[in-house]
Amino acid sequence: IPVENFDLVIFGATGDLARRKILPGLFRRYCAGQIPEGSQIIGAARSDEGDEGFRKTVAEAIREFGSGSHCEDGTLDQFLECIHYERVDAMGEAGWQELKGRLRDNVIKAFYFSVAPSLFGALAERLRSFGLADDDSRVVVEKPFGHNLETARALNQTLAQHFDEHQIYRIDHYLGKETVQNLMAVRFGNMLFEPLWNAQYVDHIQITVAETVDVGGRGGYYDKSGAMRDMVQNHLMQLLCLIAMEPPARFEPDAVRDEKLKVIRALDPVDYHHIVRGQYGADENQPGYRAHVEDPRSRTESFVALKCHISNWRWAGTPFYLRTGKKLKARTSEIAVVFKDAPHSIFGTDAGQHRNVLVIRLQPNEGMTLDVTIKEPGPGGMRLLDVPLDMSFAEALGAEADEVPDAYERLIMDVIRGNQTLFMRGDEVEAAWAWTDPIIEGWQNRGEVPKPYEPGSSGPEDALMLMHRDGRKWREIKA
Ligand code: BG6
Repeated sequence: IPVENFDLVIFGATGDLARRKILPGLFRRYCAGQIPEGSQIIGAARSDEGDEGFRKTVAEAIREFGSGSHCEDGTLDQFLECIHYERVDAMGEAGWQELKGRLRDNVIKAFYFSVAPSLFGALAERLRSFGLADDDSRVVVEKPFGHNLETARALNQTLAQHFDEHQIYRIDHYLGKETVQNLMAVRFGNMLFEPLWNAQYVDHIQITVAETVDVGGRGGYYDKSGAMRDMVQNHLMQLLCLIAMEPPARFEPDAVRDEKLKVIRALDPVDYHHIVRGQYGADENQPGYRAHVEDPRSRTESFVALKCHISNWRWAGTPFYLRTGKKLKARTSEIAVVFKDAPHSIFGTDAGQHRNVLVIRLQPNEGMTLDVTIKEPGPGGMRLLDVPLDMSFAEALGAEADEVPDAYERLIMDVIRGNQTLFMRGDEVEAAWAWTDPIIEGWQNRGEVPKPYEPGSSGPEDALMLMHRDGRKWREIKA
């Protein structure tokens, strides 16, 4: 279904995110017939590109970062007619009147801040003072949303001076991933799981977001953040919320976000014995973390594993184990819900201990696996065996799976539709920082040095111990 006609201004339009994700994503939606003719996509940045120069940049970005299988050759030229450019000085006066002159009355206006957070305030202020934005306009902001609670609060306050909460779209691109949304469908669309989805039946939950990439090229940003700020405070926290929240009464923005917020607020502070930080070292082929950043003695973590608890009726006593890291064995993101043992084995101890595990694979090869215990085939008596009921979404859905939009495509279209369900509310972000800050401060106060781990491994040995101590085991990281 096409969205309504719109004017979208992308500040920072020549930057990396715009080139990699935003512009190619818009093109794919155009090819899918979702962007109506006559919509305007206006790049704004400091450099002097002009419409023609910027159209070239856009065409190159689309060639480099993927046009998608459904885009026909001539479509790119048509799409480029929607593209415009205005040179704008975010901190000054130049270009604002001209940009205003490009915008039309009576269409949806959205302003994407694909720039450093230090510019959010100046942009928001000028959008209002030059009269570009009205009370129905939308602003889109990217992570990092703050560096801690204090800076996130300040950012929220700055934006709130110029825009209402219903106009602010804070992106966490994990929420735009198809399988992340599927988490809600699986939980709340099936009768099967929800009755068992609590501390009485669930032994523990594991959330893993493992990457094989290093921080090379992003060292400047990353070294000031680390895995805790870069991944846990936002992406893993969102996954945790979706897995743990109560069923919202409706799939509507505030109903969903209220429930997620309750989860974050119910999180216990994390005991420092229950966190392991790691930093990847070098091997014979490649340099280690410290060679990718300026500080040769950096103590920033490129890996975190932790155990946390949610103190509410549903989850009291069920540990949640989270881990994420760079330069690991494989790129894989999954959530595993490990159920408790059956209360009594009628087959005797020889049959071994068996458990149901529901694994939701977010990427790659999105799908779900449910380990079910069955009888080992053959005449050897009643011996038990766990087999996976395995479903790959791509196989199950066939061609439809190819149509699935990438996270950014989905989210930008939601901005135009005015649907905030998959965006973070200000109070949610602040609550997540309120939980994260003491962990990071604790590391700093104790002068903690992250444990080294081998590139291509599953992280530091201590991370394995975190679960072994509890008589549990991480699932293997494999592609
Ligand atoms: C970003 C982080 O938000 O998410 C990156 O800043 C990380 O460090 C990326 O690599 C992971 O996203 P995805 O979609 O590749 O899992």
